[in-house]
Amino acid sequence: MFITTRPHQNSAPTDLFAAIQTLKRELNAVVLAHYYQDADIQDIADYLGDSLGLSQQAAATEADVIVFAGVHFMAETAKILNPDKLVLLPDLDAGCSLADSCPPAAFAEFKAKHPDHLVISYINCTAEIKAMSDIICTSSNAVKIVQQIPDNQPIIFAPDRNLGRYVMQQTGRELLLWQGSCMVHETFSEKKLVQLQVQHPDAEVIAHPECEPALLQHANYIGSTTALLNYAKTSPRSAFIVATEAGILHQMQKAAPDKQFIPAPPINQCACNECPHMRLNTLEKLYWAMKTRAPEITLPDATREAALKPMQRMLAMS
Ligand code: 13P
Ligand code: SF4
Repeated sequence: MFITTRPHQNSAPTDLFAAIQTLKRELNAVVLAHYYQDADIQDIADYLGDSLGLSQQAAATEADVIVFAGVHFMAETAKILNPDKLVLLPDLDAGCSLADSCPPAAFAEFKAKHPDHLVISYINCTAEIKAMSDIICTSSNAVKIVQQIPDNQPIIFAPDRNLGRYVMQQTGRELLLWQGSCMVHETFSEKKLVQLQVQHPDAEVIAHPECEPALLQHANYIGSTTALLNYAKTSPRSAFIVATEAGILHQMQKAAPDKQFIPAPPINQCACNECPHMRLNTLEKLYWAMKTRAPEITLPDATREAALKPMQRMLAMS
């Protein structure tokens, strides 16, 4: 994708935390971060949240500069909501396998074959896909949004087939699914999960709806990252097997230090439950993004304007 050279790359300050706090004041910048970021980025964020919370913060912020510690589609969403603000992403290569699984040209063809369908797209998609959608949703509000659509209205749900299947199950609605998925949430092994449950019989399984149905059937609770965090905080149980990206464990452990959080096991002996795209951002790259005011997210006006309408519908329906 893009190669970004930064001046004085070797002279980053030793106290990056202090330097970033100074730059926040100088730029009137806000740092928005997703739970899947490294722990030190989570700790310096002004707001930490799931995709819905981050969109709501981006829509409400009065800062001049938004530094988005997340992936490209999230920073694009912030730009769609804030065309006049400078939106920075620490690493422009921080993409998303789910967003990539729905190429705009192929989706346009699919949509054209079903002209009577309303298009509801999960926020984990490119601005071009948002521009072709009627309503955006996140994992927090997908069920609630589909429930607000009249029963006789056919719906295309894109791009995540796993979230789509979960919404179908929760609402009893038939949805025409785009067959996309997230490489991280499809990495968990059902067999190893069951073995782990035998070792920890008191632990509850909590899972993100981007996981496959075979895994979700073992979950005691299913929800967005914020919902999983809130559940872990308030549940009387003291141990949890967590089936989502491992970054969330940092907040769970901070919020409930006496509880035990066990990452759900991936199929291979790998760190595949860490999103390789999210983890491209580092504290040092975040510092340089603020220092040099780059890399910046830009969008063609027509795409941005078309993508804004379904985003506004989502915010109104949430
Ligand atoms: P939420 O932030 O809605 O929980 O989604 C998780 C995710 O995969 C973000 O990339
Ligand atoms: Fe995309 Fe999955 Fe990474 Fe989220 S965790 S950014 S959906 S690849």
